[in-house]
Amino acid sequence: MKLNSVVFKIGTTILFLQLIILIPLGFIILQLILNYSVNETESQLVQLSEKYASQVHELDDPESIQLLEHLTEMTETSAVIIGEDGETIIQTNLNDNIAAPFLTNELSQRLQQDDTVVREYNEGGTTYLKVAQRLTLSNGEQATLIVFSTFGLIGESFHNIVVLVMLASLGAVVLATGFTFFISKKLGSPLVEMEKVAKQIAEKKNFSLRVNYEAKDEIGSLANAINHLSDTLERYQTNRNEFFSNITHELKTPLTYVKGYASAVRHEMYQSEEEKNEFLDIIENEADHISNLLDDMMDLSKIEEGKIDLNKEDINLNLLSEEMIRRTQMRASQKGLELNLDVPKSPIYLYCDKSRMEQIFTNLIENAVRYTEKGEISLAVQELSNTIQISIADTGIGIEQEDIPYLFERFYRVDKSRSRAHGGTGLGLSIVKNLVELHDGSIEVQSEVNVGTTIVLTFPKK
Ligand SMILES: Nc1ncnc2c1ncn2[C@@H]1O[C@H](COP(=O)(O)OP(=O)(O)O)[C@@H](O)[C@H]1O
Ligand SMILES: [Mg+2]
Repeated sequence: MKLNSVVFKIGTTILFLQLIILIPLGFIILQLILNYSVNETESQLVQLSEKYASQVHELDDPESIQLLEHLTEMTETSAVIIGEDGETIIQTNLNDNIAAPFLTNELSQRLQQDDTVVREYNEGGTTYLKVAQRLTLSNGEQATLIVFSTFGLIGESFHNIVVLVMLASLGAVVLATGFTFFISKKLGSPLVEMEKVAKQIAEKKNFSLRVNYEAKDEIGSLANAINHLSDTLERYQTNRNEFFSNITHELKTPLTYVKGYASAVRHEMYQSEEEKNEFLDIIENEADHISNLLDDMMDLSKIEEGKIDLNKEDINLNLLSEEMIRRTQMRASQKGLELNLDVPKSPIYLYCDKSRMEQIFTNLIENAVRYTEKGEISLAVQELSNTIQISIADTGIGIEQEDIPYLFERFYRVDKSRSRAHGGTGLGLSIVKNLVELHDGSIEVQSEVNVGTTIVLTFPKK
């Protein structure tokens, strides 16, 4: 495992946290046990000393002295009784650890105030306890009883506990380490996989690769983001390939015409001067078509790459519609079509880019004229509560329902030859949809074959 890997970092962090929690915790637990055992020993010793005191009434009564000796042996304690003059009168079960003077000045002063005094004392590196207590004998004399514990405060059992706590901590650390690295590995392995996939995508351009990890956590979202990225790249690649083959195809047809008719003119394959001019017209038209195609393509690629800046201002849609109708008038009347404009009296303003809005109108009205043989074309603008709606309706050939979803795809034409014959490139609706969406609007197509088509644009009000 590399030292700078995420797994290692997570692992060591958790381990470090464990240690800084375990060490103080262990210390606190030991301290608590120690306090408890000191208190316990203390109260036991005080109880014992009270018991002894209740046995001793006369210092020269051999029976009670014997009893005291017996008791101290049994309970592993020692006792001394000191008379009023400070002389030791009785001592039982003493050992080397208990050194004189038993009754220090401090202790006897303390006993003036309290009946019982507990003291710790050190001997040979071990801490012991002693309890001093005042005695009143049956003859009225005063004496002091001191009981010593002969076992250290930190006894064997305490050492055992320390060892136990340490072993338990060590076990916990080992267990937690294993668990931590298991978890870290589980978290780290999808990251490693993602790195591999991302590298493959970047270096080998293998956009069909996906990360196989599903979870609702951050790593899961990262995996989703990578998959989303390769989805987009894959779509982009497919689109680009399709686009190139479409362009090639779209350019080939007019170029074939241009070449064919140019050669016909060169070899004087026309019957009359009139036919020669027809050939030249075709060459001119096809050249126009190529030029239109290139313009549309440039436009579309700029729009799709987000490279156009919209020059938005408040545009009077009533005026714009009138202007659009005027521009189409000639072409419409050539086909015998009626043009209607339906706008309210008060002007409707839309915050938009004027030339782009003109482009939208031109494309849609041109389509309506192109795909309508008789009847009328109506342009209507209306203001709703939150939106502005523009609709362009014709009484033309209509579109099959199954074609409608594809109309906005590049180069999609329901009837290729008809579209071509009228100078269509198949890019118009793609451009329109992109421009409408750039204005936060939406586009909807309603159509019935041989009845007509209505295109509705909806824009939010500013
Ligand atoms: N008003 C309409 N009536 C019938 N068909 C239409 C209409 N507008 C568009 N279409 C169909 O949608 C296709 C795509 O339109 P568009 O992208 O503008 O390309 P074109 O260059 O052919 O006009 C057209 O080829 C035509 O088949
Ligand atoms: Mg068109």
